[in-house]
Amino acid sequence: MGNLVESERTVPWMRNRAVYPGFFDPITNGHVDIILRGLRLFDKIVVAVLKNPKKEALFSTKDRVAMIQEIFAHQPNVEVRAFDGLLVDFVRRQKARIVIRGLRAVSDFEYELQMALMNRQLDPEIETFYMMPSVHYSFLNSGVVKEVFSLGGSVAGLVPEIVEKKLREKLKQGRLSVGKSPQ
Ligand code: PNS
Repeated sequence: MGNLVESERTVPWMRNRAVYPGFFDPITNGHVDIILRGLRLFDKIVVAVLKNPKKEALFSTKDRVAMIQEIFAHQPNVEVRAFDGLLVDFVRRQKARIVIRGLRAVSDFEYELQMALMNRQLDPEIETFYMMPSVHYSFLNSGVVKEVFSLGGSVAGLVPEIVEKKLREKLKQGRLSVGKSPQ
């Protein structure tokens, strides 16, 4: 079979569980759009929130997880968990083999290709599955949301209401400054 993948080794109960990893600082409607699209294809999506001390975040891991939990409170097929270490290890612990990622534009491609191939190198059983978000969110990332909001711009319709509320709180506390974390 050479380099061909062996489809007969797929275990059905693993096929229907996917992990959607990210930093989510904070989650945007682009992320929500990808999760909703994923729910049309997979029985369960585990949203994996990276707790990475090397990357400075506006929101604590607890807050990032809590916001996503609140957004999907009525969606039992969405589970939210924090993780650190290698993504492939987390995916294996979740008994999943699919990683979902959103692809907004060509500019995302190089980073995503490197990540997908590195993850495949680390665990050839895990496959990365890409989806395009709605065109309405194709310009959106967490960094631009924080920047616009901190400068007085409106992010209505770009983030869930709970995120807008939490951003307002950070602004009041004087904790929202531009350039804190890129994603
Ligand atoms: O929201 P982001 O910043 O695009 O998410 C990146 C993330 C969390 C998916 C990525 O940084 C990651 O998987 N980190 C865990 C460490 C790891 O497994 N690294 C090897 C893959 S390159």
